[in-house]
Amino acid sequence: MNEKIETPYFLIDKEKLEKNFEDMYVAFKNKWKNLIIGYSVKTNSLPWIINYFKEKGAYAEVVSKDEFELAKALGFSLNNIIYNGPIKSEKTFIEALEGNSILNIDSFTEIEWLKKNKPKNQRMWEIGIRINFDLESMCPGETVMGQMGGRFGFNYENGEFFNAIKELEKLEYIKISGLHLHNSTKTRSLNVYKDISEMAIKIKEEFKNLNFKYIDVGGGFFGGLKDKPQFLEYAKVITEILEKKYSKDTTLIIEPGASLVASPISFISKVISIKNVKENRILTINGSCNNINPLMRDKKFNIKFKNDLTARNIIKNQIIAGYTCMENDILLCLKNEKELFLNDEIEFLNMGSYTMTLSPLFIEYFPKVIVKDKDKYSIARERWAVKEFLQKNYL
Ligand SMILES: Cc1ncc(COP(=O)(O)O)c(C=O)c1O
Repeated sequence: MNEKIETPYFLIDKEKLEKNFEDMYVAFKNKWKNLIIGYSVKTNSLPWIINYFKEKGAYAEVVSKDEFELAKALGFSLNNIIYNGPIKSEKTFIEALEGNSILNIDSFTEIEWLKKNKPKNQRMWEIGIRINFDLESMCPGETVMGQMGGRFGFNYENGEFFNAIKELEKLEYIKISGLHLHNSTKTRSLNVYKDISEMAIKIKEEFKNLNFKYIDVGGGFFGGLKDKPQFLEYAKVITEILEKKYSKDTTLIIEPGASLVASPISFISKVISIKNVKENRILTINGSCNNINPLMRDKKFNIKFKNDLTARNIIKNQIIAGYTCMENDILLCLKNEKELFLNDEIEFLNMGSYTMTLSPLFIEYFPKVIVKDKDKYSIARERWAVKEFLQKNYL
């Protein structure tokens, strides 16, 4: 692929992706011998990316029946799938247990499924259990769930975690083998992992008859960014606490998403029209918040101009707007910056987590995805057009 790439497109820098994975693997593996990295499929479910991590030896961490089927379709064996989340189907739940997937139960509905079904051939089913605990009070202001508390897993403080364990212990064909402690935080701080790891210790001390084969601390790290905590720092905080009570035979599971894929991916789009309204110059691009900020969060983009702007004039207000007919589809406002012309390309950096596959199919369909491997470029996904949009429709 040597011709100039038509915008808009996402660009995956394979070298950076490789570096993130290698750095994470080496950092954690040096600290804890039994390690499983489960790539968080939802973070960016582009088949090329999922397959890339499969080839690196990662497991697929999935959170729905569709993601479970996707992981299978992409060639993960059942015992290389970590099955989490509140929307497992009963059928895939049983399939995962029979196939020795790592499965972390999330609710009493799933305990009902365990009561209703039994393993084939007198074997045991091994399960993990997701704990819901008040991380916010341990790290005030840091969690996404805030004072309300998280929605996932069994709550520790009100006794539901205890009750779930008691229910499970009544089922002679169930062995509780794992503890899942993922939490979503705004800060991704080292402090968060200190408290998560300490919770794992507390549970071990309190539930002496449980013998966890694995501790899954979840995802939520930073990665590939110089001014943020590094993988080795996360690995150190977690393992130095876990090793106080857990033997090194215990498997440590991490479920990275954004830390692997955010920094290596960018989105490239060009100016398609220029007009003046009141005191503003509006530059519409052939990209949109749909592509890189679908939840319309207040976001500061890190951008790079592909053309040389040094000889250009300074313009007071240039508003970069998306192609949709939503008035609020505004990506950024350039104040006292060099003048942009028609066809100038803007690269939005670090755009790989969540947004690429969280985009709505609204007005335009998915843009193409290109992989850059040193100076070689290849296509990971063609642009979706009407043909893809029409599939499975009846008139
Ligand atoms: C259970 C679970 N594991 C892993 C992740 C990945 O998190 P991140 O992309 O922040 O690393 C998430 C994201 O919310 C999650 O819910």
